[in-house]
Amino acid sequence: MKKILLTLVVIGTLGLAGCGGRCALKKELKQALAVAVEQEKAQAVRMEGIEGKLPQTYEKGEVRVASPYNWISGFFPGALWLLYEYTGDEQLRTYADEFTRRLEVLKDHTGTHDLGFMVFCSYGNAYRLTGDPYYKSIIEQAAASLATRFNPTVGCIRSWNTGRKENPELDFMVIIDNMMNLEMLEWCGGKYADIARRHADTTIKNHFREDNSSYHVVAYNELTGEVTDRRTAQGRSDDSAWSRGQSWGLYGYTMMYRMTQDKKYLDQAVKIADYLIPRLPEDAIPNWDYDAAEQSKDSSAGAIMASALIELYGFTQNETYLATAERQLHSLCSDAYLAPVGENGNFVLMHGVGHYMAGSEVDVPLSYGDYYFIEAAMRYLAL
Ligand code: GLY
Repeated sequence: MKKILLTLVVIGTLGLAGCGGRCALKKELKQALAVAVEQEKAQAVRMEGIEGKLPQTYEKGEVRVASPYNWISGFFPGALWLLYEYTGDEQLRTYADEFTRRLEVLKDHTGTHDLGFMVFCSYGNAYRLTGDPYYKSIIEQAAASLATRFNPTVGCIRSWNTGRKENPELDFMVIIDNMMNLEMLEWCGGKYADIARRHADTTIKNHFREDNSSYHVVAYNELTGEVTDRRTAQGRSDDSAWSRGQSWGLYGYTMMYRMTQDKKYLDQAVKIADYLIPRLPEDAIPNWDYDAAEQSKDSSAGAIMASALIELYGFTQNETYLATAERQLHSLCSDAYLAPVGENGNFVLMHGVGHYMAGSEVDVPLSYGDYYFIEAAMRYLAL
């Protein structure tokens, strides 16, 4: 017993060095993915009975569902596509296609910046895995819709439509999360890739603090492009480091380096990783905000970060990035975060936080936490 405890302590504090530890983690990840397959299939059966909706979270004993227009809509079909890729199970492909098609209405939707999340996790994976031109046509139409939100004077895609009511032209809001919508534009190339690069460059210039943490919201004067405000929406305070936002930034710049090979994006990703890693707690899963005294882990921030760090390790060969992702995945595979089959409303991970300060989705499963956990597990197994 003492020996087992000692091994766990060593794994927890030093990372999983050598094949012994790495092979053990791979086994844990395969077991976790087997759980994910069971949970997502059961979720698909449930959702077939709820027309037009997608699963969002599980609260007070109920699975909460969302319309295709909710920013989370693409993660469930995306998770089904990833698990189809992992298993080759045709049943998963059938479900993935069925729930992806629930999102077709988004192709002409110009009311949100989240189209990258919604359409590229669903239709993007669908096209990558099948080559079916139907999926590609939806991605291209969605990219055109997203591009309508780009303001060349600001150099960014508008995130939210409504902000402070007084002088709305001074409140063109851009949130760090928006980095995640650029992959779809990069993938489409041409003028869409130009927009993605302008957005990423403007965000490097204005969204980061001296210590390489990021603000959640930067507001611009849409007529001049000047920054008018830096604040938070989902973080503890305007000056705090909201955890999921930091993970979006890390993932976004790592992805931008993959898509462009432009070293400034790699440098930005490295700066973010080097800011975050020393601030992680013992189990490497962040509190919902790195600067909040109120404790509530956000497993989604941990899963997004783990997936990004595995990719960043591939570009840098920096072992600290891989060891950190290993600590995070080891934690997420444990009983502390991974739900037993049949529980947790058939979501995979427990303990995510949507919007702590609004008291919304605190200590709950989140469909995006599941998506990035599955992606991270598959990335690690493919190393
Ligand atoms: N993009 C919204 C969130 O991360 O909560």
